[in-house]
Amino acid sequence: MAELHLGQVVEYHGDPLIEGPDAVVHHRHGALLIEDGKIAAVGPAQSLRAAHPEVPVTDHGAHLLSPGFIDAHVHYPQTAIIASWGKRLIDWLNSYTFPEETRFADAGYARDVAGRYLDLALANGTTSACSFCTIHPESVDALFEAAQARGMRMLAGRTCMDRNAPDGLRDTAQSAYDQSKALLERWHGTDRLSYVITPRFSPTSSPEQLSALGALWAEHPDCLMQTHLSEQTDEVAWVRDLYPQARDYLDTYEAHGLLGENALYGHAIHLEPREAARIAEIGAALIHCPTSNSFIGSGLFDWPQRQAERQRIGLATDTGGGSSFSMLRTMAATYEIGQLTGQPLHPAQLWWLATQGSARALRIEHKVGALAPGMEADFIAVDLASTPAIAQRQARAEDIWEALFPTIMMGDDRAIAGTWIAGTRQTIG
Ligand code: GUN
Ligand code: ZN
Repeated sequence: MAELHLGQVVEYHGDPLIEGPDAVVHHRHGALLIEDGKIAAVGPAQSLRAAHPEVPVTDHGAHLLSPGFIDAHVHYPQTAIIASWGKRLIDWLNSYTFPEETRFADAGYARDVAGRYLDLALANGTTSACSFCTIHPESVDALFEAAQARGMRMLAGRTCMDRNAPDGLRDTAQSAYDQSKALLERWHGTDRLSYVITPRFSPTSSPEQLSALGALWAEHPDCLMQTHLSEQTDEVAWVRDLYPQARDYLDTYEAHGLLGENALYGHAIHLEPREAARIAEIGAALIHCPTSNSFIGSGLFDWPQRQAERQRIGLATDTGGGSSFSMLRTMAATYEIGQLTGQPLHPAQLWWLATQGSARALRIEHKVGALAPGMEADFIAVDLASTPAIAQRQARAEDIWEALFPTIMMGDDRAIAGTWIAGTRQTIG
C-alpha cells in the first residue's frame, strides 16, 4: 500500500559537520512517498502528487517530516531511576543503578520497563536505539520482544560484569561469553534487531572477561561492541589502578580485542591524545551523551578537538544517567556543550547528528536515519510551534533553521506530532 505524506522535508546530501549546513536541503512544500514500509521517493510535493495521482495523501501542513531520531546509547533498565539526585558516577552506579538493575532478574519487571521505555522513546520521536540491558538474559529478551512487537529497529546487548558489582549482578568470564553468545545467536539479524556485545566498562570486568568478550567479537565481527570510556576523572584513575600494565583506558579494551571499527565508546570525555588518535585511525565511534555529562558532573566533550580529528560521533540520551528521553533536549545540550568548548554547532549539524550521525555510528545508515529512496520508513512529523514560547519565536524566523532552532532548544515530546515505524503510524501506550 502506498501513501504520500506532505510537509516540510529535510534531505541529507552530505555530512554537514564536514561540508557545512548546505549539505542539508530543505523543501518547504515537500513530500515522501511510502510504499511497503519503505521510502519510495522524496521531493517537491507538486511533482510527487502529479506523478502519483492515485495515491492517498496525508497533509501535515507546516510540520517538518524528518527521519526518526536514533539514540546511540541508552540504558533502558534505568528508565525508572532517571533523575536521581546528587551523586557522581561511581556513587550513582552503586546507589541507584545497581539496585535497580538487580530487579531485572524478574522477567515480568523487565517486560514492564522495556515496554514503558519504548513507548517513551516513540513519544519522543526516537525510532531506534542502542541499549545496554542488564546481566540477566531476560532483560535482553524483554527489550527485543517489545521492539519486535512494535516493528522497531533496535540494537542491544547483555551488560557483562564480573567484579566491582553487587551480588546478583556478577557473572564470570565464561558465563558472560556463553550467555552473550546464546543471545547473539537468538537475536542478531532477527527481524530488525541486532545484538551488541556489551562489557559495561573496564572497572566491572576482569581482564579475563574482556578477553572472552573480545574472542566472541572476533567470531562475530559484524556485531557492534559497546562500552564506556573515560567518562569521569575518578573512573579513569580507578582504571589506572585496576590495569597497571595498560598505557591508558583505551588500552584496557585494545589489549583484549575490544577495539575495532564496529566499536562504540560512550562519553569519551577525558581522552589522552593517543586514545583519540587511535580511535580516529581505527574508525570506531564516540557516543556523545551531553545531558548525562552535565547531570552526573562528568565534564565537557571536546567538540573542537574531536571535530578536528574527524571522529565519527553519535548522539545519545544515556537514559537514565542522562536526564531526558528526548533527542531534542539532547541536541540542546549538545549545542550548549559546543558553546562551552568553543564550537557553536549549527541546527543542521545538530539535527543530522541525532539522525544520520547516530545511524552512521551504529552502522545502520543505509537503512534508517535519512529520508531517501530505499530507506526504511521510520519518520516523524515535528510541530515547529508546539508551545506558545516556541510558536512566538519561530513566527519571525526567516529560514528553516531559524524556525527549527527554538524547537531544538525548548522542545520536548509535545513537538512530536506523529511517529511512523516502517510506514505505520504508532499509537503509543
Ligand atoms: N559507566 C558504567 N556504567 C554506566 C552507566 O550505567 N551509566 C553511565 N552514565 N556511565 C556508566
Ligand atoms: Zn551508559
